[in-house]
Amino acid sequence: MSTGLSFDPGMSALLEAQYTRPAMVLRRARALELADPKLGEDVLDVGCGPGFLTADLSAGVGENGSVLGIDQSESMLELARKRCDGYPQTRIEGGDAAAIGGEDARFDLVVSTQVLEYVADIDRALGEIARVLRPGGRTLLLATDWRSVAWYSSDESRMDRMLRAWEEHLAHPTLPRTLGKRLENVGLEVTRIDRHSILEGADDRTGYSAMLIGSIAGFAIGRQGITEEEARAWAAEQEALRADRAFHFSIGQYYFSAVRPGSAR
Ligand SMILES: C[S@@+](CC[C@H](N)C(=O)[O-])C[C@H]1O[C@@H](n2cnc3c(N)ncnc32)[C@H](O)[C@@H]1O
Repeated sequence: MSTGLSFDPGMSALLEAQYTRPAMVLRRARALELADPKLGEDVLDVGCGPGFLTADLSAGVGENGSVLGIDQSESMLELARKRCDGYPQTRIEGGDAAAIGGEDARFDLVVSTQVLEYVADIDRALGEIARVLRPGGRTLLLATDWRSVAWYSSDESRMDRMLRAWEEHLAHPTLPRTLGKRLENVGLEVTRIDRHSILEGADDRTGYSAMLIGSIAGFAIGRQGITEEEARAWAAEQEALRADRAFHFSIGQYYFSAVRPGSAR
């Protein structure tokens, strides 16, 4: 299934800018804390995007460790290479989450944040993560449940259709609901699940929801019967709600920590 969203240079630049915003910095700090990279470890970042977490992981493992960041998007790879330039222990390469390739059991830690929702063959991707982990190795995955969105509109039916249309940019819009079982199915043991909330109000004018309004308004046209006029009216209502201080947006994202059973090296 195609996701319908392209991580082209424009989208890559938009996400890179968004990832510097406080809500994203906080989310990444929590991911790093849960992943807990240690000096000397070998780490894989699947779908490394613009490389913010990849750079943090690189600092975490130090020069005696290694980090490999893989991604499908050329423009993301370019941003990640620039960001990780100062880390000789880090390589950034083109690659597919569903076909990681290479030897079995070669990483102590595999992270993948906000990526697996896009991967049609999710179980194959999880199988690849399990395969490349050493016995005792860990994985930290972050995924969004797009039906956890609570977003105020005076026109609930239009809001529902806009959000259903946006779900079409993903292969698995409610992945956290099945991820635990899917991880077990590939032989990984889930050790903890943590929920992260993003909550934004009228003052968050450059945050996650502001970026979403532009992206959703463009993407939704022609999906779920949404016309250009409706998409514009939906976005305009959100701006009006902001001005009226009646804007409310929240979403739930889930960190899954799991291990490959066995003794660590
Ligand atoms: C929302 S971004 C997240 C980037 C990064 N992990 C982060 O959290 O900052 C999603 C990334 O997943 C990548 N991606 C999507 N499907 C992929 C696949 N099958 N294999 C590798 N990368 C993929 C995209 O190119 C994009 O860079």
